[in-house]
Amino acid sequence: MQDTAAYNVATRSEDKHLDYALCASIMETIDLGIVILGTKSSELIFKNRVASEIFQNNQALLEYHNILSLLLADYGSRPEDEIFGKNYTLRFKNRLLGYTPYRAPDGYIWIIIRDITERIRLESIAEAVNSMDNISYVFSGIRHELGNPINSIKMTLSVLKRNLGDYSPASVEKYVDRAMTEISRVEFLLQALKSFSIFEHPEIKNVTIDDFLTRFIALVSNDLRQAGIKIVKAVDPNVATVAADPRLLHQVMMNLITNASDALAERNAGSITIRASRQDGLVALVVEDNGCGMSEETQSNLFKPFFTTKTRGTGLGLMITLKMVTQMKGNMDVKSAKGKGTRVTVLLQEGLRDHAQT
Ligand SMILES: Nc1ncnc2c1ncn2[C@@H]1O[C@H](COP(=O)(O)OP(=O)(O)OP(=O)(O)O)[C@@H](O)[C@H]1O
Ligand SMILES: [Mg+2]
Repeated sequence: MQDTAAYNVATRSEDKHLDYALCASIMETIDLGIVILGTKSSELIFKNRVASEIFQNNQALLEYHNILSLLLADYGSRPEDEIFGKNYTLRFKNRLLGYTPYRAPDGYIWIIIRDITERIRLESIAEAVNSMDNISYVFSGIRHELGNPINSIKMTLSVLKRNLGDYSPASVEKYVDRAMTEISRVEFLLQALKSFSIFEHPEIKNVTIDDFLTRFIALVSNDLRQAGIKIVKAVDPNVATVAADPRLLHQVMMNLITNASDALAERNAGSITIRASRQDGLVALVVEDNGCGMSEETQSNLFKPFFTTKTRGTGLGLMITLKMVTQMKGNMDVKSAKGKGTRVTVLLQEGLRDHAQT
């Protein structure tokens, strides 16, 4: 018979071994991106498969300092309890990412990242329904969103019905699974139509505009440089702060820069200028490009949900941007000349002097 004490030890250490193996396999198979940073050694300790995929296997980006400046720009400059455990969003290339950083003992930070592009798209439909504007666009959007999965379910079931006698149980299961997946999409849409509160409660702060733009440009400049686009910042020294929610402002700028850089895709000597100045007692943030510009017709449809001229656009970028700007009690204006370029002005209230924070 086995010695009981020795047996217990062995079992426990096996359990531990099993725990590690189990954790590692969960981390690899889970449908969420996970990165772990070690702040003592300034190292990226771990990234799982989904995290690598989310950042398109860009090894340079998946490095300690880059992850920190991309996802935790405020780390070190703000109290930790204001940073950790909170939900953030970030536009990365064509995708929208949602992420939450957590503090772990011994100087580790772990961050959970999800691709929420699809969710936001569906939530924006719901958002648009709520505003009751552009109702026919909204209905056509919903028709489209529901139409695709329903068509696919119909096709799957009719193929199945026709071949029910011939298919093996495994094939039948495959078809049933396919139909179930499409049903989940419909359910997801219905759910999204019920709850859509992503940016419902903006936290308006004094944002030091020069610092904000410097940090923002540092984040996007690499991608722009690779696309051959020059980016210029011009902040009027009379403008210090703006009253905004930094997360929303970040998103607003990201959407505008993405549009500007798309508009410059086919151009040589493309450049984007971000300007901050005072205008009618407000702060004007201007994003100007010398890209393809827009026709009159495009300009009149700009803020309608699902209006897009891009093959891979969702047509929700500007609608969401306007929504966010209005939530910060601001306003937006777009001027464009076909073949010459576009100037988008975001007007926001000035922040209070002497209370600057970013
Ligand atoms: N700076 C710009 N220059 C030229 N056209 C623009 C610019 N900004 C927006 N547009 C036009 O307005 C349309 C709507 O823009 P919007 O950002 O709402 O959607 P999108 O960029 O097509 O898709 P996404 O939802 O991915 O942002 C674009 O498809 C494009 O035709
Ligand atoms: Mg866009």
